[in-house]
Amino acid sequence: MLPSQHALFEIPPGVCYLDGTAYSALPLSVRAAGERGVLTKSQPWKYPDARADALAESARAATARLIGATPDDIAILGSVSQGIATAARNLPLPFGQRILRMQHEFPSQALVWDRLASERGLALEIVPRPPDGDWTAAPLTAISRPGAPPIAVAALTPLHWSDAALVSLERLMQVLREAGATIVVDATQALGVMPIDVALLQPDFLAFPTYKWLLGPYSLGFLYAAPHRQSGLPLDENNGNRSSGIPAPGARRYD
Ligand SMILES: Cc1ncc(COP(=O)(O)O)c(C=O)c1O
Repeated sequence: MLPSQHALFEIPPGVCYLDGTAYSALPLSVRAAGERGVLTKSQPWKYPDARADALAESARAATARLIGATPDDIAILGSVSQGIATAARNLPLPFGQRILRMQHEFPSQALVWDRLASERGLALEIVPRPPDGDWTAAPLTAISRPGAPPIAVAALTPLHWSDAALVSLERLMQVLREAGATIVVDATQALGVMPIDVALLQPDFLAFPTYKWLLGPYSLGFLYAAPHRQSGLPLDENNGNRSSGIPAPGARRYD
């Protein structure tokens, strides 16, 4: 069992903060790093290296280590919704096929799929919450339903935010890959509390923010893009992801 980590935080005695699933408290070390970050902008003459790529690259490398990816597979974004929108922008969505997602999914992993299904003429299949709570069996049944259109995209999570149910992505992904589906994962509630290995799971895209169980700041998130998904378009072009008009290498093109 993990021993008490209380000393790493500034939560005073008598306060029991249990809302990490929404907005975790920063450890002291992260607060200190954030304060150093603010200094680089309030006293920029003292921090000439603050705008160099090294800091972003070290965050990219740490993120890659966490999920079994390489730094080239990681894009730096501001939210999960940006990651999912980037995935949606770069996946084939053939007319008449299905987009599959889970009921009560978080809006960042639901709204874009619902809109695209209606705009592009795909069938939107929302797997209802199973009465027995088995969030692995229910999507499996939906995936393999005889006569149903092929699945273009499955929007999944390893840990459902609305009821904390675990979903066996390993089992779902295998069936989905055999069916030729692309797979987009929102790993927000899992990263930091359970292992996620993209080499094992092989999603097309996987997004998560830092402000929950990764104990980082708000407005920072990461997108894993599988190597074969690293030739698409970002949500917006900028000097970082299109230096001199040329796409940055790997998933950096989505930064
Ligand atoms: C499952 C899940 N996905 C995503 C998010 C955050 O999404 P975004 O970064 O788009 O605000 C949350 C935050 O509560 C969440 O619980």
